[in-house]
Amino acid sequence: MDLKTKLKSTGLLQVIGNTPIMKVQSLSQLTGCDIFMKCENLNPGGTIKDRPALHMVVEAIASGVLKPGMTIVEGTAGNTGIGLALVGQALGYKVIVIMPQGMAIEKHKVLKLYGAEIVETEAVPFSDDRHFFKVGKKIGQSSPDYWWANQFDNPDNYLSHYLGTAPEMYQDMDGKIDAVVVAAGSGGTAAGVSKYMKEQNKNIRVVVPDPMGSGICSYFKTGEFTSDHSYTMTEGVGITRFQDNFKWIQQDECYTISDQKLTSLAMYLREKEGLVMGMSSMLNLAGAFNTALKMGPGKRVITFMCDGGERAISKMYNPEFLLEKKLDGTLLPEKEIVELFKNF
Ligand SMILES: Cc1ncc(COP(=O)(O)O)c(C=O)c1O
Repeated sequence: MDLKTKLKSTGLLQVIGNTPIMKVQSLSQLTGCDIFMKCENLNPGGTIKDRPALHMVVEAIASGVLKPGMTIVEGTAGNTGIGLALVGQALGYKVIVIMPQGMAIEKHKVLKLYGAEIVETEAVPFSDDRHFFKVGKKIGQSSPDYWWANQFDNPDNYLSHYLGTAPEMYQDMDGKIDAVVVAAGSGGTAAGVSKYMKEQNKNIRVVVPDPMGSGICSYFKTGEFTSDHSYTMTEGVGITRFQDNFKWIQQDECYTISDQKLTSLAMYLREKEGLVMGMSSMLNLAGAFNTALKMGPGKRVITFMCDGGERAISKMYNPEFLLEKKLDGTLLPEKEIVELFKNF
């Protein structure tokens, strides 16, 4: 069976992408802007990472580097692993996922559901050889029967967004976009989306909100990744080293948003409109809220729901976790929420 026929024969892979866009009513009202989220949590694996997983695998099969019977290997914070696991399962490839300790237990369960083998590494800085990326690379290159996906440097990661996510978004918004807010981990989404948007209209503002401990903001300002390595509850976003995808990111603004601010916004949104989401999505929405407040009424700001609230049950929505991390889950009134997000 050729690749095209095989892809068509698997229903699951047909429903990756073409995700809907939702207006976030409470924050739109507070800012006088229209704030939208592209609901990438509605991909079958529950995250935006299904897109690069599918595109990287399809291109690897098409170019002949991934052959029948081989095993897909990747170092990941979990969601790329889930995307690869479901694509691998659908197309008949085994998948080995290397991920650091401390990732949400929800991801482990989904990975096992799709039959992936998990290798856990210690959560250590990049300089340490036990870092999940380095272990993933070592395992991925240890056998001719393994194909290492390498989302961090594989251009098919960013191309999945340049060719899919971004044009869908631009079309569904009728090109009426004033700002796009996109946090970066591997940088694939930010690269593909920012490149596409700037090609359509260079006035579309691209904002990259960054979690605590990440070196991305320093990289954009100074060309160097520097980090204080402080803890963040977010997963999949923030990085302390250069990877190829960063070559393509065209950003206008980057700033750090604290876990405390994300927690306060999460509690507000759940109360006001029953909206729950993953922690990187909250980072995106926090950036969109700030951007709307800064740009002033009448603007259209869009961002991504990268994964849903079910991936954050054990962390951002868990009172015991908040207590342990000294995060305050108190519901703040409108005025205080606006004050919190006005200036940074
Ligand atoms: C939940 C979530 N959000 C955002 C990202 C960042 O996306 P990208 O790798 O395209 O920068 C990831 C990456 O793994 C993720 O898992």
